Amino acid sequence: MQQTVCRFYSVILILYTNNKTRNMLKGKVAYITGGTKGIGYGIAQALLDKGMKVAITGRSLQAAEKAAATLQGDRAAILALESDVSSLAAEQKAIAATIVQFGHVDVVIANAGIGHFASIENISEAQWKETIETNLTGVFHTVKAGIDPLKQTKGYIITIASLAGANFFENGSAYNASKFGLVGFTQAVMLDLRKYGIKVTTIMPGSVATHFNNHIPNDADAWKIQPEDIGELVVDILQLNPRTLPSKIEVRPSMPSK
Ligand SMILES: NC(=O)c1ccc[n+]([C@@H]2O[C@H](COP(=O)([O-])OP(=O)(O)OC[C@H]3O[C@@H](n4cnc5c(N)ncnc54)[C@H](OP(=O)(O)O)[C@@H]3O)[C@@H](O)[C@H]2O)c1
Repeated sequence: MQQTVCRFYSVILILYTNNKTRNMLKGKVAYITGGTKGIGYGIAQALLDKGMKVAITGRSLQAAEKAAATLQGDRAAILALESDVSSLAAEQKAIAATIVQFGHVDVVIANAGIGHFASIENISEAQWKETIETNLTGVFHTVKAGIDPLKQTKGYIITIASLAGANFFENGSAYNASKFGLVGFTQAVMLDLRKYGIKVTTIMPGSVATHFNNHIPNDADAWKIQPEDIGELVVDILQLNPRTLPSKIEVRPSMPSK
């Protein structure tokens, strides 16, 4: 009798543990803008490691294909696409191509972004426009193109904003404006879409070791967040209990630079 009871509780424990460690992400599909390097690339690798399929974009097909070739994982689970986020038509086409390849889209990561940093006296109209059209209007395009497919899957949108979306600094007028705008945009979209079962989160990173603003990642970047850390964060967000929605997440290096 005692043995039977013990076996019964062991089975319950195994079932419970399996459920807790079950990979919820396997086979899901992510569309990631700006996946050729930096944060987008780190997110793509983290999602592939969880058994997801990923489409990554960049402004040139060549760069997207080159990056896709270096991602580790099942080649059939990786799609490289050309799309400039400043075009709504291009984003619609890229998301449609992702659905043709993988059947559906579960996660849209609006990550593509650039930075021009100069005082208001020196920043040019072209630099202002490129910053807003990429970091703010570009995310609008990605989100617009993703809504209908995500309604089908009750999917997830994650935008990559910045701590520059809450803290302004000298020479940051264009970048601050784009990221403050993006934080407000994402929070409003979160309220618009949750009634469809679509979750929306914005991540606001501090310094990440990437190619941002023509930086070349190097050993001195060890104190910064690494792109794979943002990938890990995205995996954690996607695996949260579905009743909970982390709508805005600030993340920064745990130690300041020396
Ligand atoms: N690095 C940081 O410290 C940091 C901190 C906070 C937030 N962020 C944000 O993180 C995001 C990713 O930046 P990152 O640091 O990973 O920089 P990165 O290494 O320079 O990567 C930027 C990515 O965006 C793509 N991209 C740029 N303009 C695009 C456009 N118009 N259409 C499509 N793709 C475009 C680039 O692709 P191609 O060049 O191949 O077109 C590249 O894949 C940005 O939104 C940035 O503002 C970065």
